[in-house]
Amino acid sequence: MRLKWSKLVLVGMLMVIAGVCNSFAGEVEVLHWWTSGGEAKSVAVLKELLEKEGHTWQDMAVAGGAGGNAMTVLKSRAVAGNPPTAAQVKGPQIQQWGDEGVLANLDEVAQAGNWDQLLPKVVADVMKYEGNYVAVPVNVHKINWMWANPEVFRKAGAKVPTTWAEFEEAAKKIKAAGFIPVAWGGQNWQEATVFESIVLGVGGAEFYKKALVDADPAALDSATMVKCLDTLRMVLQYIDKDAPGRDWNLATSMVIQGKAAMQFMGDWAKGEFVAAGKTYGADYVALPVPETSEGYLFNVDSFIMFQVKDKGAQEAQKAMARLIMEPTFQEVFNVNKGSIPCRLGMSHKPFDFPAICSFDSFVATAQTGGLLPSMAHEMAVFPAVRGAIFDVVTNFCNSNLASDKAAKRLASEVQSAM
Ligand code: BGC
Repeated sequence: MRLKWSKLVLVGMLMVIAGVCNSFAGEVEVLHWWTSGGEAKSVAVLKELLEKEGHTWQDMAVAGGAGGNAMTVLKSRAVAGNPPTAAQVKGPQIQQWGDEGVLANLDEVAQAGNWDQLLPKVVADVMKYEGNYVAVPVNVHKINWMWANPEVFRKAGAKVPTTWAEFEEAAKKIKAAGFIPVAWGGQNWQEATVFESIVLGVGGAEFYKKALVDADPAALDSATMVKCLDTLRMVLQYIDKDAPGRDWNLATSMVIQGKAAMQFMGDWAKGEFVAAGKTYGADYVALPVPETSEGYLFNVDSFIMFQVKDKGAQEAQKAMARLIMEPTFQEVFNVNKGSIPCRLGMSHKPFDFPAICSFDSFVATAQTGGLLPSMAHEMAVFPAVRGAIFDVVTNFCNSNLASDKAAKRLASEVQSAM
């Protein structure tokens, strides 16, 4: 009889606790730009984990690669005094939102989760504003990848290139065999993505840093930059006429379908091969962009949280930040997304060959100075400078502008944007 009574008390207490927990469940409205097949599959993991804890995920997906459209929506929502509770924001922009004084402090979650110990310093520093965590990192993407369809290369009798001279030789053969050598997305951020990889390869790591991280006018208007632009001009001979405006994932599917031989794109492209059920080695291979095997342009996705009054929403934000850094999410999300975890010490076992290469070269290049922030993906310079570089590069890609003139323009436009 006594036992039954204590059981009843226990059940009653559990019900009270559950009720209390429930009353703290809340909603997060999440603004992000992950809308391609691979991206949507990846972000769904976070939604599921959050909902398992009783919170609600209000999806605010804004299509458009690299987040240009999403950032426009975010700004107008913030100006209207109605920001979402969480938003995908990266790099130096985190500091700009910090300056606005609108971000929630995530230190409590970070301390409980040991983030200082679990994150590489290069990543943790970007997530902090005045020493406090205001953003949570999701992953590390590598930019300077080349995704190739081995069957197209075989049919054309061409070798997958590791230098730009080899690229030109292969591209000629591929074109002659009736395939499109390079799947190209004619959007400014995609053009800048290829441009920065060329700068890394042709100019080297130190030159990349001077030109695209320090935005040094002497490097931007230099003989080396002219050489980089000449290489870009050469690559542009091997794209198709339908490239203008093409989304990155449509370019990837040209490689998947064997219409095009290769694409230069960050490793979110791998997410498309994976989502299409393709097998690494047989259906696609990945190599560094020619001449960039010593370098690693990194790109870290992250979320900022806006200050909210509602207790439930605050709890949902905290849960989201905690879950993002937990091993379950770090593993499943990154396997699907093509990136590697930003959390140190994760097992490499579930990851495929390109991801293992990425893990290894992240560590190796951190020691040699080859680990560098991506300009195109908002890791290196403030948005105004990035915008100035984008304008010149896209103008170069879509006109006959000479390389030396473009280099001069790069230096002058970047200077006026600073
Ligand atoms: C983001 C990736 C995203 C890609 C294409 C990059 O800037 O970091 O997460 O998949 O843009 O939208």
